[in-house]
Amino acid sequence: MKTDNITIRLMKNDDFDAVVRIDTKVLGTARPDYYVKKFQRLIKSNDCIETSLVAEDENKKVVGFIMGELIIGDFGICNDDATLDTMGVDPEFQRKGIGKKLINDFILHLKQLEVRKLHTLVDKNDSRLMGFYSSSHFSPSETFVNMERTV
Ligand SMILES: CC(C)(COP(=O)(O)OP(=O)(O)OC[C@H]1O[C@@H](n2cnc3c(N)ncnc32)[C@H](O)[C@@H]1OP(=O)(O)O)[C@@H](O)C(=O)NCCC(=O)NCCS
Repeated sequence: MKTDNITIRLMKNDDFDAVVRIDTKVLGTARPDYYVKKFQRLIKSNDCIETSLVAEDENKKVVGFIMGELIIGDFGICNDDATLDTMGVDPEFQRKGIGKKLINDFILHLKQLEVRKLHTLVDKNDSRLMGFYSSSHFSPSETFVNMERTV
């Protein structure tokens, strides 16, 4: 692991361009409109507690991000469950432990908010992602099944 020079901090509105830049590099196509909606819901809205994080290198360049959703329930109490919505690490910085550091700090933050379970959806044919999540101690849910039907 070479993550000593990586700092993890809460995501801010100003990180929008960096998040879109990383996502574009990862996907090969830009989707700013998708992130406008995500930032509105996860960073700017009062319905969700701030949980999303970014990873910065020693020059304060954002090199990775993780976006999560933790809804504020009745009486302002957080839900027990949170969702890992999306994450990305700049391809030039992948396989250096930054994704793992983001997940670990994200989980630590959720623990402090008394969250008990973190959910995410993964394409089981995506061996890269399956490898990443299993190495981060995620396992298939024992309670939830992703139901679908052809329309
Ligand atoms: C998935 C992703 C976030 C991982 O970030 P990362 O910083 O490269 O991950 P790490 O270096 O912390 O990897 C931790 C472990 O995960 C596993 N892993 C990571 N990338 C992997 C790959 N391509 N294939 C298999 N296992 C992999 C390994 O066990 C790795 O440990 P190791 O390097 O000691 O073998 C990054 O590859 C990425 O941004 N992918 C594209 C976007 C994406 O798919 N996002 C998730 C969906 S929302």
